[in-house]
Amino acid sequence: MSDRVDKLLVGASEVVTCAGHSGAPARRNAEFEVLRDAAVAISGAHIARVGPEADLRADYPDAQCFDVERGVIAPGFVDCHTHLVFAGSRADEWEARMLGKPYLQILQEGGGILTTVAATRAASQSELLALARKRLHECVRFGTTTIEIKSGYCLDDEGEFKLLRVAKALADAGPAKVATTYLGAHVVPAEHRENRGRYIADVERAMRRIAAERLAEFVDVFCESEAFTLDETTALLSLGRELGLGIKLHTEQFTRTGGTSLAAQLGAVSVDHLEMVNDDDVQALANSKTIGVLLPGVPFHLNLSVYPPARRLLDAGAAVALATDLNPGSSFTPSMPMILALACRKLHMSVAEAWLSATINGAHALGRAQSVGSLEPGKQADLLVLDIPEHRHAAYGFGNNPVAGVMIDGEFIRGIH
Ligand code: NIG
Ligand code: FE
Repeated sequence: MSDRVDKLLVGASEVVTCAGHSGAPARRNAEFEVLRDAAVAISGAHIARVGPEADLRADYPDAQCFDVERGVIAPGFVDCHTHLVFAGSRADEWEARMLGKPYLQILQEGGGILTTVAATRAASQSELLALARKRLHECVRFGTTTIEIKSGYCLDDEGEFKLLRVAKALADAGPAKVATTYLGAHVVPAEHRENRGRYIADVERAMRRIAAERLAEFVDVFCESEAFTLDETTALLSLGRELGLGIKLHTEQFTRTGGTSLAAQLGAVSVDHLEMVNDDDVQALANSKTIGVLLPGVPFHLNLSVYPPARRLLDAGAAVALATDLNPGSSFTPSMPMILALACRKLHMSVAEAWLSATINGAHALGRAQSVGSLEPGKQADLLVLDIPEHRHAAYGFGNNPVAGVMIDGEFIRGIH
């Protein structure tokens, strides 16, 4: 980190820091720091100080000042669960779904995820990159500065590597920071339906190569009635752990599978969805270091009445994060502000809980809490300027975009130049 403070962000109505949770995630009654009359000092790509504006102006008279005009300064969102790389549209199936056709029935009939697999297999790497780049810019426009991207829409070795190469190209090109996850075990592809074991062996072989060549940081499995059983999931994630990959899990979405306890037991970095958890699952999660990633865009998009039980999880002492789950089937949105809005309305989370879950706890769900997710000295200068009078308005409004400026690595890549 260079010592010279070169930028000062001043004129904020509030600075939301989400500070104090880099070592361990925010849980029940966590401190949520919101400063008034405060400014942010930037040194190169990092945050140098957050503190009283008068002090910072006096201490750094040569820094360039950026007036945020009574807006709110906050950490960039960490969207810790997306399926950003895909081709095709599922608008037809979505419309059928809205008229009552169940999500798992569409999948059983060879549609759903498999519809996207067909379109994604047919697309070239450069076509996929162009589509994904456009989506990533949309996410950034809504304030995402770190994003997780899963493979999982080709379901054959070469295809999955193609998706991971697209994610890697996005990571290299920026502007957002990208974490990559191998989700070869999304569903069993049609050609292997009669021989699941063969497909699982393929996934295991791919995992070995992914670990050896560092093609992804995490491995994920969809543990669900139409996807992988608990036993299959246990075998796959145990191998992932053995290979040194971080582990994640999609589970308890439509049916209760026992995946939450498994994730806690294996030391997964996160366990995601959780609509159907029971009390034992809640306790297992609360007693673990695993983050529960809640995806309220999914029941909203699928028009289901069951949302993940955030209150039960939080009140039991579990750490939760929020993410979009951006994908063409179950949550077609790039917008973290929309997820905050849903979290407060449908998950009964406080605005403070929603902010912490969408920033620092998302960073924990990616193992990146030492570098992103809060405004604290030494962290990456990834922050937002929100055109709202105070931080609650980020969730109070919905469907709008409160993000007026986005800074990544100390540079404004949108707004306020
Ligand atoms: O996170 N649950 C499984 N996978 C995705 C949905 C993928 C799709 O429908 O294309 C999810 O909801
Ligand atoms: Fe997902």
